Amino acid sequence: MGEKVCLITGATSGIGKATAMGLANMGASVVMVGRDRGRGEAALADIKEKSANASVDLMLADLSSQEEIRRLADEFKEAYPRLDVLINDAGLFRSERITTADGLEMTFAVNHLAYFLLTNLLLDVLKASAPSRIVNVSSGDHTNGTIDFDDLQGEKGYKGAKAYSQSKLANVLFTYELARRLEGTGITANCLHPGGGIPVRTNFGSGVSGVFGFIVRALRPLMISPEKGAETSIYLASSPEVEGLSGRYFVKKAEARSSDMSYDERIARRLWEVSAQLTKLPA
Ligand SMILES: NC(=O)c1ccc[n+]([C@@H]2O[C@H](COP(=O)([O-])OP(=O)(O)OC[C@H]3O[C@@H](n4cnc5c(N)ncnc54)[C@H](OP(=O)(O)O)[C@@H]3O)[C@@H](O)[C@H]2O)c1
Repeated sequence: MGEKVCLITGATSGIGKATAMGLANMGASVVMVGRDRGRGEAALADIKEKSANASVDLMLADLSSQEEIRRLADEFKEAYPRLDVLINDAGLFRSERITTADGLEMTFAVNHLAYFLLTNLLLDVLKASAPSRIVNVSSGDHTNGTIDFDDLQGEKGYKGAKAYSQSKLANVLFTYELARRLEGTGITANCLHPGGGIPVRTNFGSGVSGVFGFIVRALRPLMISPEKGAETSIYLASSPEVEGLSGRYFVKKAEARSSDMSYDERIARRLWEVSAQLTKLPA
């Protein structure tokens, strides 16, 4: 990975941080994205020290804000002439409905629209660097999701679990539609479920109240390590075995079938169009 530049969101914690560490250990130039300077600099120092790789960088952006995502894309392109791997990892679970600075529901904005907008803004540099790869971190929980086009942002009734599984299904639908649109460009797009059956011990859900938070805290001792949870992201980012493979879903470093709804091309196209409108991109 010596010549490769990898941009990773959610790199301050959990699976994203372990992915950044894994790629830094392979000698890649790693650009970590974090929203908090303190947490970002602590993760950066830890990765630089443990990997002995000086080519690790930090860029700050709150991915709930489209203005910050646009600034991040510009800053990245000013600083780096190429991008070989984009890993969209940053995600969250919210028990209560809150809105972002753009007036959008937080789970939908961070877990789906941020993947959609950042990826689209970086496509030019990914194309210029081809063969290049996009890796979207979804979840096995996408199988519980549907895309509720009548209430995408939970305005009529919000449930954290419904919003989360919808956003993770959106990750898979987005990946498949993106792969179709990128055919012939030399950019591949794949998605994954980290862990594979057993949850990964991260900060995910740690501050969440209610039943979800209780379950997450109760299961913590049984969970697998972030390093184990990052294996499939690292595999999709770096392995020659998946060179040229696109539009697939992976679990435990193996291709797997995602939910029936995730293969519905009409839903994927419609979600793309709505997402483009909400992020002010051309459809
Ligand atoms: N843990 C699991 O078992 C599991 C299972 C399936 C899927 N996943 C997926 O794995 C991905 C990573 O989650 P994790 O388990 O590693 O959780 P985590 O430890 O909570 O990490 C989430 C990362 O996302 C970042 N983030 C959240 N909101 C953000 C925002 N508005 N702007 C910028 N960054 C933001 C966090 O930054 P801060 O450090 O600033 O909070 C953190 O770096 C998520 O997409 C999640 O859906 C996890």
